Amino acid sequence: VSRRYTLMIPGPVGVSEEVLREMGAAIQAHYGSEWVEIFRETVALLGQIFQTEGTVFMLPGSGTAGIDAGIGGLLKRGERVLIPINGWFAERLFRIAQAYELDARRLEFDILQPLPIEPIKEFLSRERDIGAILMVHHETHTGIVNPLGEIGQLGREYDVPLIVDAVSSLGGIDLKVDEWSIDVCATASQKGLEAPPGLALISISDRAWRIMEAKGPTGHGFYLDPRVWREYLEKWGDWHPSHVTLPRNNILALRASLRRILAEGLEEHFTRYRRVSKAVKSGFKSMGFQLLVDEAISSPTVTTAKTPGGIKAERIRDFLRDQRDILISFGPPKYRENTIRVGHMGEEMRFDHVVPLLCGLEDALRDCGIDIPHGKSLAGIHAFWEG
Ligand SMILES: Cc1ncc(COP(=O)(O)O)c(C=O)c1O
Repeated sequence: VSRRYTLMIPGPVGVSEEVLREMGAAIQAHYGSEWVEIFRETVALLGQIFQTEGTVFMLPGSGTAGIDAGIGGLLKRGERVLIPINGWFAERLFRIAQAYELDARRLEFDILQPLPIEPIKEFLSRERDIGAILMVHHETHTGIVNPLGEIGQLGREYDVPLIVDAVSSLGGIDLKVDEWSIDVCATASQKGLEAPPGLALISISDRAWRIMEAKGPTGHGFYLDPRVWREYLEKWGDWHPSHVTLPRNNILALRASLRRILAEGLEEHFTRYRRVSKAVKSGFKSMGFQLLVDEAISSPTVTTAKTPGGIKAERIRDFLRDQRDILISFGPPKYRENTIRVGHMGEEMRFDHVVPLLCGLEDALRDCGIDIPHGKSLAGIHAFWEG
């Protein structure tokens, strides 16, 4: 049996027993009336979390499959797209755009600040024929949350569709797909949705459907083409709503998790994320870590911080992994040597995971020669209850 670590990384996250149990359910077919009921309920629950009336699909694969489906489905080879870049995952969007042979225009910004609105607005007012804006909601390496609502507003104003990588935000950070005019929103099951890896979830707006209909096939294949997904949903919706075999157990697990999130209430759920984040960030600060990005612009799902006294991040990571069975990660490539990054989503948001993390960090610092009073890391723990 391999060692079981507490996953204080930005995904995959630990899942509740209730969710995990579904992965062990007997294998059953991905068609028939019972399946259609499960399928429809899960899609409806997703619609509530995406806050959309648009179409939602569950694709077998990781989050990137959803991004691929959106980009490949909406855009034709050679079309121009705008990619505002303030982090590693936006760079990745650029790579995906290149792989689809799009005419990808980069606007590069400070990776420690949210995307600024003015230069994007200026670009859209100057350039014509932009097929889409591609952007990341939450840059997972730094923990920056980008102003998605405001960029959605620009997309509306300039009539340019917006495709969003929300892989590390949806479920943990409020994201209003319809209100913010997001045309394709892609995420994964294994982070803010608190379910096992294996599914990409995407929403598609009416505007995106109109564009796809007007363009016809974009020449990017069959498996991930939203048109094919819709065709089968319409044609076979009452017995076999997809053109490929869906991972039924993953979907059962996702349904169990979505039911839990919605039973808590979306607002309450986001509030809990913020509280836990505050407890973690306060603990970090009181131990002498310096948050990589200002708390006001940083995410409630991830904390990235520079180590005190320039201690090598690797030493802290190794200590937690080897002495405490806790996995953490590093900051963005440029700061990797001296920054650590922890995720606090899913099961790992629980008090009985956060306290060992914070106390373990204290011990890791002591192990590196820093004299730090016991209990210092728990300075912000009251935020768990009081926010
Ligand atoms: C913002 C962001 N985009 C994309 C990805 C890639 O997602 P996946 O591994 O589910 O394809 C990640 C994974 O960490 C991410 O954080």
